[in-house]
Amino acid sequence: MYKIVKKKTINSQVELMVVEAPFTARKCEPGQFIILRVNEDGERIPLTIADYDREAGTVTIIYQVVGYSTKLLSKKQEGDYINDFVGPLGQATELKKHKRVLGIGGGVGAAPLYPQIKKLKSMGVSVDVIIGGRSEEYIILEDEFKEICDNIYFATNDGTKGTKGFVTDVLNDLLEQGNKYDEVIAIGPLIMMKAVVSVTKPLNIPTGVSLNPIMIDGTGMCGGCRVTVGGETKFACVDGPDFDGFLVDFDECMRRQSYYKEEEDHVCKLDGI
Ligand code: FES
Repeated sequence: MYKIVKKKTINSQVELMVVEAPFTARKCEPGQFIILRVNEDGERIPLTIADYDREAGTVTIIYQVVGYSTKLLSKKQEGDYINDFVGPLGQATELKKHKRVLGIGGGVGAAPLYPQIKKLKSMGVSVDVIIGGRSEEYIILEDEFKEICDNIYFATNDGTKGTKGFVTDVLNDLLEQGNKYDEVIAIGPLIMMKAVVSVTKPLNIPTGVSLNPIMIDGTGMCGGCRVTVGGETKFACVDGPDFDGFLVDFDECMRRQSYYKEEEDHVCKLDGI
């Protein structure tokens, strides 16, 4: 059993939990994820690690309360326990000692971006970040990013914070202003990552993305998380979750992501959550 030592509501849809998980905290690296089960017969929820503290033995997760299992998770409070918390899983992000990197985080995607940017900064890399969301309320981890970034920019759909529009509008502006980046790391909704790649690919700016498909076992056995990258089938849970954005078949990922939407809504209604 894994104790929730801190729980914080970030906005109306997103929550943060700090969980006592010393073995995971000791080994995890940016880019990796955990799979948790709220209770014994619960569904497995894959969540990217948003932060970790090796000394305290804790791992931070940030999740959007969207489906049946995250709603169940959301009912847990500080001091409660999570049944299973398995990790670290997946490959750590290959962070290179570039001169300058641009991170782009959309919505809750800013959470897995954070440890990558933090590590790059500790390696002496100059980092700029664009954080996007539907409105100001959905911009997360602003203070945390401000502490480690050289420059931070915002984009909101309704213009309540930063540029009115999309993260790609800010990206285009930065590139037009002559900013040069050795790499872009984009994490957020598939449609956002696809749009970022449509800007960076013609300019040949290497772009890493993080995929979060449906996962079941998280060990490469079930095939649930298969994605097509460079024409080859890959399993996001063992080969990823980070991939070269130039090679990902985003359209296929988007089709697969919506497969179980109806069933999930149905179960939520049945259980009244
Ligand atoms: Fe089963 Fe990746 S979750 S193969």
